[in-house]
Amino acid sequence: MARDAEVFAGGVAVITGAGSGIGAGIARRCGALGMTVVVAEINHAAAQQTVDQIVTAGGKAEAIIVDVSKPEELDRLAAEVFARHGALRLLVNNAGIETIGYTWELSAARWEATLDINLHGVIHGVRAFVPRMIESGEECWIANLSSVGGFSAMPAQTAYIVTKHAVEALSECLYLEMEVKRLPIHVSSVIPGMLRTNIFNAEGGAGEPGSAGSHRRKMFEMMRDYGMDLDEGCRVIVEGIAENRFWVHSQPDMSRDIIAGRIAFFESQQPPTLSDQVRHLVEG
Ligand SMILES: NC(=O)c1ccc[n+]([C@@H]2O[C@H](COP(=O)([O-])OP(=O)(O)OC[C@H]3O[C@@H](n4cnc5c(N)ncnc54)[C@H](O)[C@@H]3O)[C@@H](O)[C@H]2O)c1
Repeated sequence: MARDAEVFAGGVAVITGAGSGIGAGIARRCGALGMTVVVAEINHAAAQQTVDQIVTAGGKAEAIIVDVSKPEELDRLAAEVFARHGALRLLVNNAGIETIGYTWELSAARWEATLDINLHGVIHGVRAFVPRMIESGEECWIANLSSVGGFSAMPAQTAYIVTKHAVEALSECLYLEMEVKRLPIHVSSVIPGMLRTNIFNAEGGAGEPGSAGSHRRKMFEMMRDYGMDLDEGCRVIVEGIAENRFWVHSQPDMSRDIIAGRIAFFESQQPPTLSDQVRHLVEG
């Protein structure tokens, strides 16, 4: 039996932001592996769509509406999941938004939303679930969504990039905390390269400055034309989590190039440089 089916079949999975994109893809994969999937999502219709897809395919799923930017909602989610199911095998802190705009042009509200969803949502997901996981005494898995953007700098995607560097740091420290406390909780840092999702759709840009429009559109087109197939990417991701890997890359070659660039940047101790490709993307 494949490792992912072996460790995950029969368990419960909570996946935040599972109404679309990577969260939905991971949810479908978990459903196909025989997990009971809790689709934790802010958008009711999107959550129900993922639940329907899993159930139609013969799996088990339920929706819980949650806004991960509110710590008390993650407490409620954790309490509800443990009250209903008694245990949790897999937590995927996936919900996230892209934000485009220069640091000084973004509204305070958009800055706060980006930090609250992408970073605080992951922190409070961990804070709400881990004590219950410890109490259950069972082997569990936590996967946090970082990005290749967690190893790079990108002007006008600053808010997003800040959160992904921070989530990467959180996952590394959390992994070590599990080691210190000798807990049976595996931690993975998921690094998608580029998977075809809705993250650069125009509707996601509400509240961004007007200058963000062409940057968002170019990113959307790049993802549409060159992004990896979503379900294949999510199959690779779930397999990596089940293998207890800390690093889980959807596109390892892309990750390797970006990480190599980061190491070279640190070693050179030169200021950041702007490539022609990035200048074209940002300048419109
Ligand atoms: N798609 C990629 O190539 C890529 C690359 C690197 C990292 N990521 C990361 O993967 C994760 C998923 O991104 P995606 O591309 O699937 O995006 P997506 O926009 O397709 O899906 C994100 C989902 O999160 C939900 N969501 C947003 N705010 C929420 C909130 N406050 N509470 C609960 N749910 C909320 C949305 O409704 C949506 O269903 C994000 O953390 C993103 O940063 C994606």
